[in-house]
Amino acid sequence: MSRQSRKILRTSLCDLLDIEYPILLAGMGGAANAELAAAVSEAGGLGIIGAINLTPDELDAEIRKLKKLTSKPFGVDTIAPTNIVDGNTIDELRNYIPDEAVAYASKVAQELGIPVPPGTRIGKEGGTGWAAGMTPKQIEVVYEHKVPVFAAALGSPAFMVPEAHARGMKVIGLIGTVNQARKEAEAGVDIIVAQGHEGGGHTGHVGTFPLVRLVSQAVAPTPVVAAGGIVDGRGLVAALALGASGVWCGTAFLCTPEAGIEEVAKAKIIAASERDTRVTRVFTGKTCRLLNTKLIEKWEKEGPILPFPLPIIMSTSLQDYLGKAKMVDNYFIPCGQICGAVTEMKPAKQVVKDMVDEAVRILEEEFPARIKLGR
Ligand SMILES: Cc1cc2nc3c(=O)[nH]c(=O)nc-3n(C[C@H](O)[C@H](O)[C@H](O)COP(=O)(O)O)c2cc1C
Repeated sequence: MSRQSRKILRTSLCDLLDIEYPILLAGMGGAANAELAAAVSEAGGLGIIGAINLTPDELDAEIRKLKKLTSKPFGVDTIAPTNIVDGNTIDELRNYIPDEAVAYASKVAQELGIPVPPGTRIGKEGGTGWAAGMTPKQIEVVYEHKVPVFAAALGSPAFMVPEAHARGMKVIGLIGTVNQARKEAEAGVDIIVAQGHEGGGHTGHVGTFPLVRLVSQAVAPTPVVAAGGIVDGRGLVAALALGASGVWCGTAFLCTPEAGIEEVAKAKIIAASERDTRVTRVFTGKTCRLLNTKLIEKWEKEGPILPFPLPIIMSTSLQDYLGKAKMVDNYFIPCGQICGAVTEMKPAKQVVKDMVDEAVRILEEEFPARIKLGR
C-alpha cells in the first residue's frame, strides 16, 4: 500500500488508540498470534494478541516477537471470568474432571475412530486451557511490557482500570448485553466491545444489530466497537450507522497466512456457509460458536457438559489426537456465521485495506447512487 493510495477513514476511536483505521483484530486465543497482530497494526488497525491459553513466559515471548515486527500500538486480550471452577493451574483443574467424563471421552474417541493410545485418560492428561490463576500473571507481563491496550472477555476487566490508567493504558471490556455494558462504562472501562450472537467464539444471545444499536446509546459517550458478523467494508459501514466507533473482527482474519490456526482449518472456514456453525457448550462449558461437527452433535446429545473451563482441557486434548490423525471433519474450529463471506485466503494487510476501500467506496459512491435524499 503506497502512502498516496491510502484512504482516510477515521473516527474518534482512532485518536483514542492512536491508530489510522477503526479496525481492531479480535484477541482470538490460538489464532491472534504475534504475526497476525503485528500485521493488523502495521496495516493501520489495532492488532491484539489472544493470550487466553498462554503461560506468562509464552505471552512474554509473543509480545517480544510482536515488538520486533511493529512499533505501532497493539493490545493483549485474555479473560477474567467469574462463576467458574476455580484453580490456579491447569493441572489443579484436572482434579475436577469426573471419571464419567474421562470415560465418555474415550468412548466417543473410539466410536469416531480417533486414534487415542489405549489407556489414555483424556482430560487427566494432555490438552491445554486457562485457569483462574493465569489471568493475574498474564496481566503482570502486560504491565511489564507497557502494552498500550488490554482487553478482557467473559468477565469484567474493571478491577484493573485504576492501575492500567495510572500506567497510561487503555482497557477494553467485551459484553453481550446492555446491562453488562452499563456496568463496564460506570467502572471506567475506556472502550466497550459489543459482541453479537452471530460472532465466532464465546457468544451471547443478542444479535449484533440490536446490541450495538442499544449499547451505543446506553453508554455514550464511552466509545462502542461492534463485533460479530463483520468481515468487510459493508459491515464496517453498518456498524458505524448503528452508533459504533469501530469494529472488532475475528472471523475476518482467520483465513490469512498469519493466523495461528492450521491450514486445513482455514480451508474448512473458506468452504463453510453461514449455516455451518453451531453454538455449543461442548468446547469450553460456555456458549461458544464453532463450525458444526458430528463430534459436537454427538457429545451434546449423550456426553456430560462440564462447567467452564474444564471442557477446554478435554476438547483441546481430543483436538491434538484429531490433528495427529488429520481428522479435520471433527476439528473444533471457532468461527462466526459470517464465514459464508470469507471465500479466499488473503494477507491480513489486504483484509484491512479491502475493508477500508470498500467502506469509503460505499459512503462516497454507492450510497449517493442508491439512496436519493432531499426534499
Ligand atoms: C477462533 C476464535 C477464537 C476466539 N477466541 C477469543 C478469545 O480468546 N478471547 C476473546 O475475547 N474472544 C475470542 N473470540 C471472540 C472474538 O473476540 C470476537 O468477539 C468474535 O470473533 C467476533 O465475531 P466474528 O468472528 O464474526 O468477527 C474468538 C473468536 C474466534 C473466531
